[in-house]
Amino acid sequence: MNQDQLKQAVAKAAIDYIRPYLAKDTVLGIGTGSTANFFIDRLADLRGDFAGAVASSEATAERLKKHGIEVYDLNTVASLDYYIDGADEADANLALIKGGGAALTREKIVAAVAKTFICIADGSKKVEVLGNFPLPVEVIPMARSYVARQIVKLGGDPVYRQGVVTDNGNVILDVHNMQINHPVELEIALNNIVGVVTNGLFAARPADVLLLGTVNGVETLKP
Ligand code: 5RP
Repeated sequence: MNQDQLKQAVAKAAIDYIRPYLAKDTVLGIGTGSTANFFIDRLADLRGDFAGAVASSEATAERLKKHGIEVYDLNTVASLDYYIDGADEADANLALIKGGGAALTREKIVAAVAKTFICIADGSKKVEVLGNFPLPVEVIPMARSYVARQIVKLGGDPVYRQGVVTDNGNVILDVHNMQINHPVELEIALNNIVGVVTNGLFAARPADVLLLGTVNGVETLKP
């Protein structure tokens, strides 16, 4: 199976996971990226079985709408039972690196609201130690150089993601060469730098379930 087939398999597994719990008033949180897109495409078949979704990006909102799925403003929704999203890396505690698609801030907000975060990923995303994938950090544009200097002091090697503006009007620094042995502490330290909007470590609020696509089938991992 190639990587896309593994992503499709976990998208289907996530549908099977949530389907028994869907009700007419259920609002789902939906992530961003190619794995999330496979999930959205399958979710379209269940359109009439739930109320709609909160999107973690403009791209996801567009895709949901194209499928006729109602998109809700998060501020109008009291709670979300499930948030379904991909990841760039996941460790055994289900701490994640996210933000390869530059949607990390909205993803983190929707994940914070959700009762259960189901992460869907192909097997290549599972790692012993986070940090091989460059850690995205969303930054207020005028603070870019200052934040980069502070990240160097923390031992990282920040690279400006040229030509990318987030849905929130900000820029991304991708932090290379960090072996992240203490993800919660690093997540807090990065968020404490003035000018950082948020960073792509999802460790303080990790996933609750990881559906991992492997050649032997989809594994269900919990911390
Ligand atoms: C977007 C993300 C994505 O979930 C992450 O980049 C994984 O993407 P893909 O499913 O395309 O491999 O965090 O900001």
